[in-house]
Amino acid sequence: MSVKIFDTPDVQAFLRKVSGLDQAGGDPRTKRIAHRILSDLYRAIDDLDVTPDEYWAGIAWLNELGAAGQAGLISPGLGLDHFLDLRLDALDAELGIENRTPRTIEGPLYVAGAPVVEGFARLDDGRDRNGHTLVMHGVVKGDDGAPVPGARVEVWHCDTRGFYSHFDPTGEQAPFNMRRTIVADEQGRYGFRSIVPKGYGVPPGSPTERLLFALGRHGQRPAHIHFFVSADGHRKLTTQINIAGDPLVNDDFAYATRDGLVPRIVERDDEAGIRAYGLDGPFAEIAFDFWLSPLVDGVDNQLVERPRAAA
Ligand code: DHB
Ligand code: FE
Repeated sequence: MSVKIFDTPDVQAFLRKVSGLDQAGGDPRTKRIAHRILSDLYRAIDDLDVTPDEYWAGIAWLNELGAAGQAGLISPGLGLDHFLDLRLDALDAELGIENRTPRTIEGPLYVAGAPVVEGFARLDDGRDRNGHTLVMHGVVKGDDGAPVPGARVEVWHCDTRGFYSHFDPTGEQAPFNMRRTIVADEQGRYGFRSIVPKGYGVPPGSPTERLLFALGRHGQRPAHIHFFVSADGHRKLTTQINIAGDPLVNDDFAYATRDGLVPRIVERDDEAGIRAYGLDGPFAEIAFDFWLSPLVDGVDNQLVERPRAAA
């Protein structure tokens, strides 16, 4: 079939009608976005001769995706989360703002309401038998490099099976396992003990994975740890670090890896270090400072509000 009808007056008028542009009610912004996205979709169907069978396969996939609650999982997989970051970066470049700690995607697995701990926290409950002890610490700094006492470091990561608490298909993890809010001390220092996470993969056989496979891709992420870092007078930073040495560090299905976010990880077995952190054996150590950027005209011009899980 090679008919092309997109540019006909009838189809153009129809697009305005289905988007509500021919009448007064509704929300103008929604109408404008709907009109643009529907136009792009109609045009793609026309240009690519998308068959009815292909179209209905897509609709069935969307229903499955929604039923599985996976819209937030495929979004990073299709690079949209990273694209939004690139746009924020470009806006910062225009404003002359340098982010010494790069932002990177939040991902879909944050849960609000984690326990709040002053200074140094233990994130894991010790039940992950394959866990290798990790100690991570550093200073939260302002744009001028000065420490930011009282900064809040929200941290979350998965276990050695790649499962996050609250999203664990085995139901084995306690609420807020490997999730805390750490309040930096008077010197702006934060620290935590946990286990080194492993890579994460989208649920096997899921609609998310099926689309990625159809694209000849995979649904795996390198091991990583998520952070929100916030403090009065500074913009909230959303970022992650990767565990150096993970084979997927530069092959992340969610495109979150960025220069400056793969800190050195040091294996330690010295008695002094083990004792200093009150551990019982060898551990891995990461030192990492977070640099916050200043408010713009007194406001956080890039604060992201999105529906988030809470417990
Ligand atoms: C996804 C999972 C993550 O842990 C993450 O950080 C980003 C994306 C996902 O399943 O899409
Ligand atoms: Fe993650």
